Amino acid sequence: MFISKEIEELSIDYLSKPFGDKKDKRVERWLDLLNQLNTQAEIVNLKDEVRVDLSTIDIEEIESIFLEFLPWRKGPFRINDLLIDSEWNSDLKWKRLQALKVNLKNKSILDVGSGNGYYAFRMLGMGAKQVLCLEPNLVHVSQFTAINKLVDSKKVRMIPERLESSGIKQTEFDCVFSMGLLYHQRNPQEHLQNLKDFLKSDGQMIIETIIAPDSYGIALEPVDRYASMPNVHFVHTDLGCKSMFEDLKLDLVSESDTVPTSHLEQRKTKWMPFKSFESALDQDNQSLTIEGYPAPSRKFYLLEPKF
Ligand SMILES: C[S@@+](CC[C@H](N)C(=O)[O-])C[C@H]1O[C@@H](n2cnc3c(N)ncnc32)[C@H](O)[C@@H]1O
Repeated sequence: MFISKEIEELSIDYLSKPFGDKKDKRVERWLDLLNQLNTQAEIVNLKDEVRVDLSTIDIEEIESIFLEFLPWRKGPFRINDLLIDSEWNSDLKWKRLQALKVNLKNKSILDVGSGNGYYAFRMLGMGAKQVLCLEPNLVHVSQFTAINKLVDSKKVRMIPERLESSGIKQTEFDCVFSMGLLYHQRNPQEHLQNLKDFLKSDGQMIIETIIAPDSYGIALEPVDRYASMPNVHFVHTDLGCKSMFEDLKLDLVSESDTVPTSHLEQRKTKWMPFKSFESALDQDNQSLTIEGYPAPSRKFYLLEPKF
């Protein structure tokens, strides 16, 4: 059974139909490409990176298939000598998580807004029992499905839905992750409360978000975009985050440093050839975004519910 009877029932159909009944003109082509990926990996390394080694491989054919799933935002992934060099070097965020000393061994995990599942694979590399990803963006769903065709893990599944429409009603998880979502919420308190509702009483919640300087009080509220991103409603300060956690009866167990995003961590590549971090910052003052706000810095929090 995958996590619980409820999750098994909600997720099983997506194993054969990863996009469910979603209407998108790209789905047919993606399904065709996925059908061409029939080689399972001989060696899989999810501990230090997400790497698969295939015994019989035409690397040029594999590259041309994977390039059709553009843009690759999260990664990198390695397939033999092929490096899928994504926009984000997501390994850097994963290293920052280690400061929290979180133990994922044998844990059931909900990763909300999982992107293409890069972190879910790294969670398995840390010994997680099973990981359920929720991700409404179908490009990410196509990439996850392609990578997992090679990895062939039965311990990770993805539902192509938002948290609010996932249909999960009863299941409680050992760990709930929300990375890069808080600032996109119109009601961040409600988002945190929703995440808390999916936690076991002795569970743990991991929040990763952009942090505004203390001078903004509780939160920076962008007038329009923030660092070229639409739909950024609140960028909380550290104080603002901690006061929400307190109001929602979430105990702060540990926290990472606040680390500025760098051109090493996010940049345009062959696998994400569109505008990236370089066009999100003021060309004359790299400490400011293009809109004149403080440039992004990111932080992790490890929380436990107080009951
Ligand atoms: C900024 S990305 C972060 C991806 C990944 N978690 C990371 O840290 O790199 C936010 C992701 O959350 C997804 N998302 C946004 N709102 C969501 C919601 N309500 N439920 C689930 N996923 C959501 C988006 O499609 C997007 O892929």
